[in-house]
Order: sequence, then C-alpha cells, then structure tokens
Amino acid sequence: MSEKVYIKTYGCQMNVYDSNRMTDILAPLGYSVTETPDDADLLIFNTCHIREKATEKLYSDLGRVKHLKGEKPITIAVAGCTAQAEGGEIFKRASYVDMVFGPQSYHELPEMLARVKRQKDSQDLTGNRGVLNVEFPEDPKFDHLPAIRSQNGFSEFVAIQEGCDKFCHFCVVPYTRGAEYSRPVQQVLNDIKRLEEQGVKEVTLLGQNVNGYHGLDAHGNESTLGRLIEEIAKFDGIQTIRYMTSHPRDVDDSLIAAHRDIEKLSPFLHLPVQSGSDIILKAMNRKHTREFYLGLIDKFRKARPDMAFSSDFIVGYPGEKDQDFQQTLDLVREVSYAQSYSFKYSPRPGTPAWALEYQVPEDVKDARLQELQTLILSCQKKFNERLLNQTMRVLFEKKGKLQGQILGKSPYMQSVHVMAPERLIGHYVDVKIMETYNNSLTGTVVTSDNGIVG
Ligand code: 5AD
Ligand code: SF4
Repeated sequence: MSEKVYIKTYGCQMNVYDSNRMTDILAPLGYSVTETPDDADLLIFNTCHIREKATEKLYSDLGRVKHLKGEKPITIAVAGCTAQAEGGEIFKRASYVDMVFGPQSYHELPEMLARVKRQKDSQDLTGNRGVLNVEFPEDPKFDHLPAIRSQNGFSEFVAIQEGCDKFCHFCVVPYTRGAEYSRPVQQVLNDIKRLEEQGVKEVTLLGQNVNGYHGLDAHGNESTLGRLIEEIAKFDGIQTIRYMTSHPRDVDDSLIAAHRDIEKLSPFLHLPVQSGSDIILKAMNRKHTREFYLGLIDKFRKARPDMAFSSDFIVGYPGEKDQDFQQTLDLVREVSYAQSYSFKYSPRPGTPAWALEYQVPEDVKDARLQELQTLILSCQKKFNERLLNQTMRVLFEKKGKLQGQILGKSPYMQSVHVMAPERLIGHYVDVKIMETYNNSLTGTVVTSDNGIVG
C-alpha cells in the first residue's frame, strides 16, 4: 500500500523532532511524505499552544483543508500541544477532524489509524466520533519509537529530555508536555550511534529543560547534560554538538566544564531570562534573580571566552511597570546577546498568570516590544560585525534564496550565505566572513571537508 502523509509543523524544534519521528512510525505502514496537502491521504497538524496566535493559526489552517474531505477519503489529525490542551474541543470546532492526539501518545499512531478506519467502516452504526488520545502514558513513548532515521543525513535533532516541572506562571508547557522525563544515557547513545552510521555530523540535543537532564547511566546513577555531552563527543563522526533549551536554575559545573573542555560543543547557549526585573522574575516564578543569571553568563564567558548567548523575553507580563521594562533593556545591553526572541505576554487559559489583575494594556505591550526588538537588533548587528574577516567552520544545510547560493549556520548560530556549488551541502566548509548584516553573514569558501575548494 502506498499512501502519502502531509505534516505541518508549528512552533519549536521539539515539534520538528516529533514530526520527524511520526514519519519514521508511518514509513513501515507504507506512508511517504508529501509537501502538498492536496496529494495527501493523511494530514497531520503538529501544533503549538505557547501563545494564543499559534493556536488560532491551527483553526484557520484546518479551515483551509476542510474542502479536501469532500473530494476523497482522507484522514485529518491534530497533534501536539494544542491537541493536548484542547482535546475533544477540537472535534466541536472542526467536526471533520478524525484524530486528536498529544505529544506523549504519537507512538500509538498505527493503532489510532486503525481505529479511525474501523470507525469509518462502521460509520452508519456509530457515527464518526473521532479518535482522541491525550493520555500521559505510564511508559515513556521513547521506549516505543522506531530506530531514529536522519532526514538529511548530516544534521539531526535528538530529544534527550522532555516536559517541564518549573511551572513558570505564564507557560502552558508543564501542562501540555507533562512532567520532566530524561531518557536513559544508553538509549540516547544508541540514537547517536545510529545517526553517526547514517553520516550525521551535527546533533542538536533537545529538551524543554534540556540542562535539567538527569538520565540514568549504565550503573544506575543520574547523569548530567555536561557528562552526556562528554560521551557524545567520543563519537568520531559527530563533529558538532548543540543543545536547547536551558533553564538558568539547572546550569551546573559539568555544563560549564563541557564548554571549557569540549571543542565539539558549540560556543553558543540559548538561556532564556524572560525579564531583567527581579520583581517580574519573582512574579513569573522563574526561581532565579537577575544577578544569578548575570553570574552564570560570567562563568560561561570565563570558561569559554568566545561564548555567545541568546535569550527569550516576554514584555507586558501582568504588573510589569516601566522601571521593570527598563531593567530588561539594561540587561540586554549588559549581556549583549548574539540574538534573542521577544514576545508580548499572551494570557494562556489554565496558567496561574491567566487571571491576574494588572494586565498591561495592548498598546503599552506593543511599544515595549518594539523598543526591545530595536535594541536586540542593534546588539545582534554589533555581534555580527565582530565576525567580519574571521574564518569559521560552517556546515552547509540547504540552498539559499539566490541562484547559486548555499546556506549554513555559524558556530554562533547565525545564517551564513555563500555563493558555492550545491555539492557542498552536508559538508563542513571553512568560510571567511566578508559582509555582516543584522540577521546573517555572507562569506567566501576557503576549504571544505570533501576537499573541494569552491
Ligand atoms: N506569552 C508570551 N510568551 C510566552 N512564552 C511562553 N509562554 C508565553 C506566553 N504566555 C515564551 C517564553 C518562552 C518561549 C518559548 O515562549 O519566552 O521562553
Ligand atoms: Fe515554560 Fe518555564 Fe518550563 Fe520554560 S521553564 S517550558 S518557560 S514553564
């Protein structure tokens, strides 16, 4: 049987990872991936619930494929964090959806598809009520996933940890992804070995709270992210290790030591702070102060002087006053981030901040966001300018927008554009940076790992 699956992925890298694993699960059932919804027999929307906008996008996208249902017998599934949070409500808002399942149950896709088929076959008797699977199973899904396959054969995400026990007051993740879970060390290393065999050179270790990793090692002792990275670095084929997303409270000495000692570990850290004001950090339940955070940045810079940082910021958290916001700006200047993401606070149902008084008016949020983004951009520009004329190793990932251009990532996560042959995609290339922009760099090829000098 040859069928086609179309997967639309919203939100974070963990969702990209989950979508990839779904294609691994579906492959033995005869499904190949299509990029066009019109060709698909199965459509999966792997959703994000982090802000209201992300959720609303799902319903408008669903509306756009509704007509396909009348044209041929297709199956429409909603997966991911919105599925987990809204559950059966999705069937009420979009009755043509066949399946709703959360991030912890997609390994049961084959059974769920069989149930949908049974329901459709017996529709006259029972009506098509849809398959709902938003349980948090006792058994971690990782124990049931098929062997990992790399999508492109050179760079891959590997989930090592999932869920969050931090309960920041604005955030839905602890409710949608569930409690923190760390995969055992050996299970992760098996994935790395398989990826290495498939030619993968770069791995990005993923977790909602990745540096809270405490998977058990072969002796039954809890490991740490730093020690896990040390193990992964022993694989000769793996040349670059990245990880995200980290929480300041869970930074430990082993992680700092890993940045000092392990050349393969990228000198880059995404360490969200959310706000520069102690009052707001406390209100958010972030469990750390501004000073603690700045102290960490200092420690990393001492261990690895070229370390670059990025962060997430929320503006307009309930009760945020202008002086709080000024402290956020001040912190951005002090750290001088290589890049950062910033968002207007979006009240999420079910979170402690949802019902708080003192919501910041929308126009104030807008103005603060704009001011913050302007500052972030100017830091980014400054950071990039410092890279001018440097030669750096870049793993090229794909074609660029311009004819003859290819695109990769610098060690500090900027996009690097080079005019060079497509055959360099999937290879490390020494690139000399010739021009810098706010959001990217351009350069020329010096050497590459397949001996081609372009
Ligand atoms: N409103 C706005 N931004 C949010 N984030 C998480 N929850 C919310 C919310 N309710 C942001 C945080 C987090 C990033 C992934 O999304 O900055 O680090
Ligand atoms: Fe959300 Fe806070 Fe957990 Fe990050 S640490 S996933 S922001 S609750």
